[in-house]
Amino acid sequence: MSQLFELPALTFAFNALEPAIDARTMEIHMEIHHDKHHAAYVNNLNKAFESAPEFYGQPVEKILKEINQVPESIRTTVRNNGGGHANHTFFWDVLNPGGKKAPTGDLLADLEKSFGSLDAFMEKFNTAATTRFGSGWAWLVVDNEKKLHVYSTANQDSPLMEGHSPVLALDVWEHAYYLNYQNRRPDYIKAFWSVVNWSFVEQEYQKSR
Ligand SMILES: [Fe+2]
Repeated sequence: MSQLFELPALTFAFNALEPAIDARTMEIHMEIHHDKHHAAYVNNLNKAFESAPEFYGQPVEKILKEINQVPESIRTTVRNNGGGHANHTFFWDVLNPGGKKAPTGDLLADLEKSFGSLDAFMEKFNTAATTRFGSGWAWLVVDNEKKLHVYSTANQDSPLMEGHSPVLALDVWEHAYYLNYQNRRPDYIKAFWSVVNWSFVEQEYQKSR
């Protein structure tokens, strides 16, 4: 069974992000967002590959990068559930308490060069997150020419499918914020900035280059 895709354990307590994302919301993250939503993506992914078991054991990120290699009969299922698995695994690391509270060094310099200023970058990210209609994700990515970009994707689509490397991610599905923020997605986005683990973001930025 070890070759099956596995739900990663959350490495932090549900009240660790209080008060920015309150304990009740994180409890929902734990009990529903991680244990139910993320687990369902993993289960569905494993089920999809019953018909193509040669994919078991491959990193889900590699499968997404080469999504056209996946048999057409299960490609949409793998795109949705493999994306859901990869995106959430990445997101938990973004939220992991600890690490730097702001970007520094090479990443900060590149954000300023690419977007004009740190504030201008955040504004652009906020707009991407706010204007994504329905369900999806906001991203900071590095493209294959090592340039930074901000955009959003629909549903569980991953930047990996475009050959881009995720650096920062925000889940803007209603399941991520509805309990605490109801329809106030902008308030949730504002709270998000106060809990970003910039050490992880910088690490992913360096890996992408
Ligand atoms: Fe989610």
